[in-house]
Amino acid sequence: MFRLLSRTLFFLGLANLALGVKREDFKTCAQSSFCQRNRQLAKEAASNSSPYSVIANTLQFQDSVFKADILNQKNNVKFALQVFFLENNAVRIRINEKAAIKPRYDEAKNHVLVKEPTLKSPKTLTGKENQGQEFSISYSDGLYTAKIHFSPFKIDFSSEAGPILTLNERGLFNFEHFRTKVEPKEGEAPSEEGLWEESFKGFTDPKKNGPSSISVDVSFHNFAHVYGIPEHASQLSLKTTAGEAHQYDEPYRLYNLDVFEYEVDNPMALYGSIPFMVAHRKGSSAGVFWLNSAEMWVDVAKDNKGSHTHWIAESGLADIFVFLGQEPKSVLKQYGDLTGFTALPPAFSLGYHQCRWNYNDQEDVKGVDAKFDEFDIPYDVIWLDIEHTDGKRYFTWDQNKFTNPIEMQKNLAIKGRKLVNIVDPHIKRDDSYYVYKEATQKGYFVKDPSGNDFDGWCWPGSSSWVDYTLPEACKWWASLFKLDKYAGSTEALYVWNDMNEPSVFNGPEITMQKDRVHHGGWEHRDLHNMYGFLFHRSTADGLVQRLDINRRPFVLSRAFFPGTQRVSAIWTGDNTATWEHLKISSPMLLSISLAGVSFSGADVGGFFGNPEPELLTRWYQAGAFQPFFRGHAHIDSKRREPWLFGEPYTSQIRTAIRNRYHLLPYWYTLFFQNSFDGVSPMRPMFVEFPEDELCFGMDAQYMVGSGLLVSPVTEAGVTETKVYLPESAIWYNYFSLAPIPSGWQTVPSPADTIPVFLKGGSILPKRNRIRRSYALMMNDPITLLVALDSKGHASGHLYLDDGDTYAYLQDNFAYRHLTFNGAQLTNSAVERNNFDVVNPLAFSPKLPAKLTPSEFEDSLKSVRVEQIIIVGIKKAPAKVICTKCGREIDFKFIPELNQLIIKDPKLNAVQDWTLELQ
Ligand code: NOJ
Repeated sequence: MFRLLSRTLFFLGLANLALGVKREDFKTCAQSSFCQRNRQLAKEAASNSSPYSVIANTLQFQDSVFKADILNQKNNVKFALQVFFLENNAVRIRINEKAAIKPRYDEAKNHVLVKEPTLKSPKTLTGKENQGQEFSISYSDGLYTAKIHFSPFKIDFSSEAGPILTLNERGLFNFEHFRTKVEPKEGEAPSEEGLWEESFKGFTDPKKNGPSSISVDVSFHNFAHVYGIPEHASQLSLKTTAGEAHQYDEPYRLYNLDVFEYEVDNPMALYGSIPFMVAHRKGSSAGVFWLNSAEMWVDVAKDNKGSHTHWIAESGLADIFVFLGQEPKSVLKQYGDLTGFTALPPAFSLGYHQCRWNYNDQEDVKGVDAKFDEFDIPYDVIWLDIEHTDGKRYFTWDQNKFTNPIEMQKNLAIKGRKLVNIVDPHIKRDDSYYVYKEATQKGYFVKDPSGNDFDGWCWPGSSSWVDYTLPEACKWWASLFKLDKYAGSTEALYVWNDMNEPSVFNGPEITMQKDRVHHGGWEHRDLHNMYGFLFHRSTADGLVQRLDINRRPFVLSRAFFPGTQRVSAIWTGDNTATWEHLKISSPMLLSISLAGVSFSGADVGGFFGNPEPELLTRWYQAGAFQPFFRGHAHIDSKRREPWLFGEPYTSQIRTAIRNRYHLLPYWYTLFFQNSFDGVSPMRPMFVEFPEDELCFGMDAQYMVGSGLLVSPVTEAGVTETKVYLPESAIWYNYFSLAPIPSGWQTVPSPADTIPVFLKGGSILPKRNRIRRSYALMMNDPITLLVALDSKGHASGHLYLDDGDTYAYLQDNFAYRHLTFNGAQLTNSAVERNNFDVVNPLAFSPKLPAKLTPSEFEDSLKSVRVEQIIIVGIKKAPAKVICTKCGREIDFKFIPELNQLIIKDPKLNAVQDWTLELQ
């Protein structure tokens, strides 16, 4: 109820009466009976050995699958173990009850995996049994071995260099089988508390299936760092939650929740959940992914033997994937092969987004839009929050405030700009509201245990929630976005899906009761963490399908789950306008990106409160180098559009946003690469420097691609910043292009600049002239920034397409390789067999007419290279010749800067050419 009160206070403009996070609104492990039971087991484990063993005479190893039965010797319950060796070198371990009295939830895989994983050819595997004690399988061309120990049951993964990780090393594997409730006889003690029912803050969770949890421990041998399992407002390298001198008392919790005014440095659950962990040490990386959509808790302990993790899920199956590689990028690729890669976003969505709760009316939108032009600040999207609707009935407009939404969108579209409207998942229970009426008639809402439509409380008051596990409901939901169905919408309208954890103001922990019922009779408990992803996906499908030629969607979601990356963007929810929230934004986004969801951002400026101008400026500088870049603010905060604080802030913010626009060709290229290699554009230092141990714990600085190192300023009054520039490379200041020594450096970071460094050896594509939106810059020329490494070489890529449709799936794109070998700068096509182009959708989109290669080249003929800047060049060439055309090209050499500037070489960005420095 406090939550409801706080929200109402905010709603009434009495924000100062509401307080910070109410920890007591959310469960601790001790208040969650399944977590508590399993954590207790961990405490006792030292004295007990695992009761689970493989029944040796049941084992089979055939067609790349190892199968055996497992026995729990304590209660004689049997389980079926299957170990699949997959084509991409991942290993999948599935454990289910052998003779369950009813099926356990196993549907998450149908939504999360892009396809049924293909098995490795049996010829590439060798398996052997050792004296009835263990079975070893060597895979990945003999690089790795999985050894299944029979008694107690455990699985070791190792390479020639030694052990890598072990499942059930500490004997914490625990599988609570389904059972029939036995009422205690008179005089007998009742069954253990929490097995069949538990209460929290006045809510009772009746557990019709009784106990159903599964826990497993995973030890990463000799790994001092483990990462991932977002979403938590915490550092990138996971802190310890168990063992000696642990840093947090609670495990990391994965349970999608709307946590009002969340705190930083905390393992509490937030809006999204991805049960994927990455471990890295020199020469070896590993990943573990538990495909399970129920609530989960993860303990992390560390000692001199490595990192020891303990995963506890409330229900479902053990369906665990293990990925091994010599470096992090290989693990990320294996995870992406299974769950999908981040979809290539429409180009405009990488620009700047201007949001607030709320832009009040059409005049307000017009005014804000005009101010961007007046102040010469580019932006691509303006957003409308919940107040734009008629009484929080999504897909409708408050007609007093928005008298002509189509005209409003057309006026934006003239400048290439878009509108984003919010569409939340709670549907107002109002018989005169068409969305509610249709969903009710069709029977599409989630049910309560008595079979009625679930009725909960959210922004509109009494509401119901569509069941997106029902395929017909998803189709229907997608159809609501058709231009003729969604009155007042145009092609320039995109969508924001908020509150999809789902947030239910009068529910336990502000969400849906676990016993609510979904399609197939499944309890919400089984799929809670996946709900928001399914809603987001249906919305995005609707946006894709609303036009005859399908366009890439842009839909921002707050909740997320594995697979979300295939849909669209997410953001880190309701942060606060404080320096500590600015500081935590990078680690949070690094964790989320590492877990596959690369298109992510944090509200620039902080959602709650009023940032002082210095904080706001620093936040813009940071946001410009994070993937999703949106300013947003709470309804009670003061207006803070970029021009409102006057000079010098307006100019500093303008510079920050314009810097983003200059680099959009680089970001877009990185997103294209991410769409088939799984490496996020914003990436932790250790991903790019896997051999440099100094990078392993870093999250205050990070890489954008392999070419830029970014170290945002996150403290007040700072004019200097300490950065680490890995010794294995040479570096330049990105803005001044001056060289800077590697190692730890203290660099100036006055108010108007963010420390950004260019790695020697990189070629970055940029666009020099800035227009009002990125949509208007798509045909503008490219500048190539060539930063030489210690050998005088460099390389990079440029990706261009129509920025909007799926034409790239039929090869209507230009993916160029740019190399400089000391004497020649060459632009050539990346050979098609060196990369994939992946359709992120579950269906084939409708494509525009396929262009022939020459027609396509023609469509981009205006994209010329207008400037080439070579940095770090020691000597002036006598001449620069374009070899193909035999032309001599003008250049300028600046000896004191070691820079060569080639102006307007009259070359096309998407054609083959070589410039020779003679
Ligand atoms: C909660 C979201 O996190 C926030 O960004 C939004 O402004 C409000 N809901 C109102 O829709």
